[in-house]
Amino acid sequence: MIKPSETLKKFLNYSFAEVDRAKQEAIKNGYQIIDLGVGDPSDPMYDGIIEGLKVGAEKHARTGYPPYIGHEELRVAIAEWLKRRFGIDVDSNKQIVITSGSKEAIFHFPMAFLNQEDKVLIPSIGYPPYRSGTMFAGGIPVYYSIKESNGFLPNLEELEFLFQKYRPKIMWLNYPNNPTTAIAGIDFYQELIALARKYDVILASDEAYIDIYYDVKPVSILQASNDWSNLIAFHSLSKRNNATGLRVGFVVGGEEIVKYFAALKTQMDSGVANVLQEGALRAFKDDNHAEKMRQIYAKRRALLKEALESKGIRCYSFATIYIWAKTGNSVAFTKKLLNLDPKNRIGINVTPGKLLALDEDENDADQFVRFALVANDEHIKLASEIIKEKL
Ligand SMILES: Cc1ncc(COP(=O)(O)O)c(C=O)c1O
Repeated sequence: MIKPSETLKKFLNYSFAEVDRAKQEAIKNGYQIIDLGVGDPSDPMYDGIIEGLKVGAEKHARTGYPPYIGHEELRVAIAEWLKRRFGIDVDSNKQIVITSGSKEAIFHFPMAFLNQEDKVLIPSIGYPPYRSGTMFAGGIPVYYSIKESNGFLPNLEELEFLFQKYRPKIMWLNYPNNPTTAIAGIDFYQELIALARKYDVILASDEAYIDIYYDVKPVSILQASNDWSNLIAFHSLSKRNNATGLRVGFVVGGEEIVKYFAALKTQMDSGVANVLQEGALRAFKDDNHAEKMRQIYAKRRALLKEALESKGIRCYSFATIYIWAKTGNSVAFTKKLLNLDPKNRIGINVTPGKLLALDEDENDADQFVRFALVANDEHIKLASEIIKEKL
């Protein structure tokens, strides 16, 4: 008899049947669903990438396996972008590795550093691979809380307590944050880095949303210190360039951390496809399209935020492609939105905060729902009108 591993077994039960059923029911009843659920943009990929892919198909007809850490031309273009965007100097040969989007990098990263039952600190709400990657690497997740009352930043006293008690090898952090949209500032990063260094913790900073912002331009953790010995940042083209389907990202950080991560990757895969790297190259040579993307999201954000706020719902949307809306009971609210306009058979799909909780106890996620600004302008406008009229 075929049996999954004990670790995989823990991920096979999908507990959100209730919300799923409500969505399927609405579809069965002929509802048009405006989908603001998953953070997967419906707009086309940046066209420079498509040009690059075409060039890449010819150029790499005979290239063979790509280099494990990525093509030099792409790494250099990324180093130049990092200099323009964050003012940091990066050695493109030793401090950058190209990855298949950031999910694979986030999932695999702990395998390079954990021994059995080592602890990893993970935010109480957020991106699930922090937890699954830790568990498949044999580690044990320990959660720190991210709550509205702390501005969705970890409390440094709580962290010191957790560092002392669990001696974690790695701490995951994600700013701009999915789902709360919070941004971390330089001062916060500096205090955190000092604390992590005291307890020998690697700070793994997921910066997938760093180029989607509104009033405040988010900083990278790498801007907060000249010593990157325990720092690594995870980047992705998925949100910056509307390129979730491309599957290209990169890591950048301290030489030793990057060296060990690269060593792990040489065991695991044989680099990112040559053609995809050629597409990604164009994205890092042009910053204008990222500005255009921000303008598109800003327009959608303003419409939806205004509609929700007109109903007395508090909205957080400092950066990212999300609005984190304080609605109370997140599952009940999600179900209500799916059935908001029965007359015209239009439903709005969002993600209940409860679904984004990684630790049931240590968060206020069930008070919030996440709106992803990924539907087209027309649908966002329609959703806003329905919310204003019917909620
Ligand atoms: C916080 C966060 N990090 C990383 C990712 C991964 O993106 P990708 O694998 O497409 O680079 C996502 C995707 O939604 C995310 O929300």
